[in-house]
Order: sequence, then C-alpha cells, then structure tokens
Amino acid sequence: PVLVVDYGAQYAQLIARRVREAQVYSEVVPHDTPVEEIQRRNPAAVVLSGGPSSVYADGAPQVDPALFEAGVPVFGICYGFQAMTSALGGTVEHTGTREYGRTELEVSGDGGTLHAEMPGHHPVWMSHGDSVSKAPEGFTVTAATKDTPVAAFESVERQLAGVQYHPEVVHSPHGQEVLRRFLHDIAKVRPQWTTSSIVDDTVAAIREQVGERRAICALSGGVDSAVAAALVHRAIGDQLTCVFVDHGLLRAGERAQVERDFVAATGVRLVTIDAADRFLGELAGVTDPEQKRKIIGREFIRVFEQAARDLQAEAGESGEHIDFLVQGTLYPDVVESGGGSGAANIKSHHNVGGLPDDLQFELVEPLRALFKDEVRRVGLELGLPETIVHRQPFPGPGLGIRIIGEVTADRLETLRAADAIAREELTAAGLDRDIWQCPVVLLADVRSVGVQGDGRTYGHPVVLRPVSSEDAMTADWTRLPYDVLERISTRITNEVAEVNRVTLDVTSKPPGTIEWE
Ligand code: XMP
Repeated sequence: PVLVVDYGAQYAQLIARRVREAQVYSEVVPHDTPVEEIQRRNPAAVVLSGGPSSVYADGAPQVDPALFEAGVPVFGICYGFQAMTSALGGTVEHTGTREYGRTELEVSGDGGTLHAEMPGHHPVWMSHGDSVSKAPEGFTVTAATKDTPVAAFESVERQLAGVQYHPEVVHSPHGQEVLRRFLHDIAKVRPQWTTSSIVDDTVAAIREQVGERRAICALSGGVDSAVAAALVHRAIGDQLTCVFVDHGLLRAGERAQVERDFVAATGVRLVTIDAADRFLGELAGVTDPEQKRKIIGREFIRVFEQAARDLQAEAGESGEHIDFLVQGTLYPDVVESGGGSGAANIKSHHNVGGLPDDLQFELVEPLRALFKDEVRRVGLELGLPETIVHRQPFPGPGLGIRIIGEVTADRLETLRAADAIAREELTAAGLDRDIWQCPVVLLADVRSVGVQGDGRTYGHPVVLRPVSSEDAMTADWTRLPYDVLERISTRITNEVAEVNRVTLDVTSKPPGTIEWE
C-alpha cells in the first residue's frame, strides 16, 4: 500500500481517498508509527499529511530522518512538507505571515515533474503559519507564492517531493494531477486499484475466510449492508442468508426496495421479520427521544437474535451451523477506532449490540478497507440499482425519531405520506444528489389552526429539514428553490389530511443536529 501518515489534521483520510482515486491502494497510519514498522509494511510510497502544529511547537510531531534513507518514495503535504524540510536539512521559518485559503501558485521554471505544463499561475488551497525558506540540498524548487518562496520541491532521483498547499482538496484544481504525478511518475507505483480488482480480491478473501461454512447478514435497507451482503453473496451464494427486520418505522416503499429490488438484483436468500406491532407496543406512551432510541435499538437486537436462533436451529438439523455474521464496517470506522485490526473488531462487536453467548459469530467485514464512494462503485459493479447505491442516509430508529411525541400507527401513516411527497418532488426536481438528506418531521404534539375548503382545521405541522453536508458532522440548511418548496407544501397540505402547515428548518449544524430527536 501507500501509507498516509496522519499528523492529526482532518486531511489524512481525504488524502488516502485521493491516492485511491489515482488507482493506488492506500492506508492511514498514525504519525508515531516507527520507521521500522513502516518499512516492514513494504509501502510503495509514503505521504506525510498536513497537521495543526508548527514544527517549532513543543512536542510537535517530527519525521524520523531515517525514513528518507529507507529507499521509500515520500511526498510531504503542508505540515508534512515542513517536517520533511527540517529532517532533510532545509530551513523552515516562523515568518509571522499566514496564508489561509485560496492562494495563487506561481510555477517556477519548467515546473519539474509535479507541475510541468500546468498554467504558470493557478489557484491552490493553503493553510499554514510557518514557511519553508530554503529547500534541502539537492532539491529543485518548482513553485512559489507571493508569501512563500518555496511552495513545492522535488528530487526525482531520490523519489522525494512535497508541496506547501493542500493538493487533496477541491479548491486546488490541479492537486489531484500533482498527486497522480508523484505516485505514477516519481514513485513509479502501478495503478491497479480499480473497482473490478476490489470486487475480485474481496470475493477471493471472503471465500478463503468462509470456505464451505454458512453466514448471516442483517439488512437495514442502507447502502453498506446491501453492498456487503451482495459481495458475500457473490462469493458464497446460498451459504448466505439475509435477515431484514421490518420495525414498522420505515418510509414508504423501503421494504419493497429490499424485498423486491435487492433480491432481484442479487438473488440473495432473504428472510423478512414483520415486527411492526412489537415495536409499536414497546414504544406506546414513550415521548423521550433517548428512550425511544434505546427501545428501538434493544428490540432490534432481540428480533434479530431470535431470527438468528431460528435459522441456526433449522441449519442445525442438516448439520450446517451458521458461523459468520456479515457486517458493513467501513474503512473510516476502522481508522477512527485505532486502525489496528484488534481495535476495530471490538467496535464491530459492539455494533451488533453484544449478542448473547449462545450466538457467537465470527465477523465477515468485506467493506473494511473501503471508503463510502468505493462502496457505491462496488455496489454498481455488482448490479445493485441506483436507488439502493445512492440512497441518502436514513437513521436506524427510522421515523420513530421523526415524530415529536408518542409514536402511533396513525401518526406513522401521516408522516409516511408527507415524507413520500417531499421525496417525490425532490427527485422530480433532480435534487437528490445535491442534498445530503431531507428529513420530514411531524410535530405530533403541536396543533395549529388552519382553513381548508370551507372549514376551520386544527391539524399538525410538519417540518422540512433539507441539509447539505460532507459527512454529517457539520451541515448547512439547503437553499431549496422556492418553486420546489411550494409544490411540496401545496401537495402535503392537500393530500395529507392531518397536516395543515408546512414549515422549513433553517438551522445549520451546529447548533442544530440534522435529526430533531
Ligand atoms: P444528527 O441528528 O446527529 O445526525 O445530526 C447525523 C446523521 O446520522 C443519522 N442518524 C443516525 N443513523 N442511527 C443511524 O444509523 C441513528 O440512531 C442515527 N441518528 C442519526 C442522521 O440521519 C444523519 O444522517
């Protein structure tokens, strides 16, 4: 792999994704990984990421100069570029001038390998206080900015290079090309990480792990579990059984999407558990959001457990115990829970909510090495429909946390109807890919006076909560076109009897969360 050394900024995972976009497999490692450990992993190249520190700060993470003697190609970015400069004997100065945001890069001379034949002036994204004032001995400086005399350098012979700016962000339009040139032209890494190679390698690994034994997978209707199940099915066919728990808190059409579309695309063996009554029973009289979440989570595990036991009993009769549980764990979860294989396993087990002792499974995690965009591409490669592969996020507790107040069957029906209209109109307006998601929330404990037809009404408001986001950690409210809002509002108040008012949530996150509960 290419190893991306994480200096503690939010950029390391983004860099790892960009490396993969250049069709080279990459992994993120913490900055305190010893050089011997890096060498042991035999990386095709190392990328040093940006970080929040100044190289002068006390306890600032340094780069072990031994890295540059190890014969591994290295690319330094921002802080990594400065740390590399210090380690190789160049000069980093604390000048007091800061560059932040969009800056113009001036390509020097012929631009070397990294910047050859690019526009002489082009925009890049900067974020630094310190600057490199003198490149290390033997390096060619290939770019500068108004405030930074050394904004890029390279030694093609030693396979070392770096840039002060952030090539990984979209605000550096030539950045991906620069990264690609480092990987392909300086580090001489062959581009082999493609969607079809991911599918082939993963399928082979699943076969190796599972052999002739059997596996079970809980489908949620979301992208990750669907793609994980499809991959495992491709590998082991009917040795896999999928379980879909319908908790009655789904949106219109979601059950059909799993039972009809997913099964048609994959041929997977599916068991649906109809548990709507059970969930509604447990939720009766409950209004506290945290309590709702706890109840839904707990019941989900219980229902899944029972389904697993039943399948286990059936399988047991023919002597075929089910040994494996498929989980859609993604690479960012693996990195965030410590990176090591051990650490991430603990978290995955935790995700299934601690199944009881008589239900011990080994985990199959076919998406463990993948980012979300790769998961979607794999899904398409496996023939899953766009409606599943590009589905917007939907919370596990479903509509249960979008009814403010007690969850009842009638209220669910009302919310489902309003939500279906909003989704239809957003899709018709071609806005699905522009918004992150658009929860529709029913204020079931609020009533407001309206006038419809000839009469006074006393109904409930719904809230539209369209948001734009990169990762759901922060979000902004989406400026939907007024005509789309108007169509949604008119249709909901006309078609959904209990709703006589449609309101728009114009709160960013923070301070508001995306969901209302
Ligand atoms: P919040 O409301 O925390 O939501 O801003 C962030 C993102 O997470 C989704 N969400 C959940 N997803 N189980 C899930 O699988 C949950 O309990 C849950 N709660 C919130 C939410 O839809 C948004 O995309």
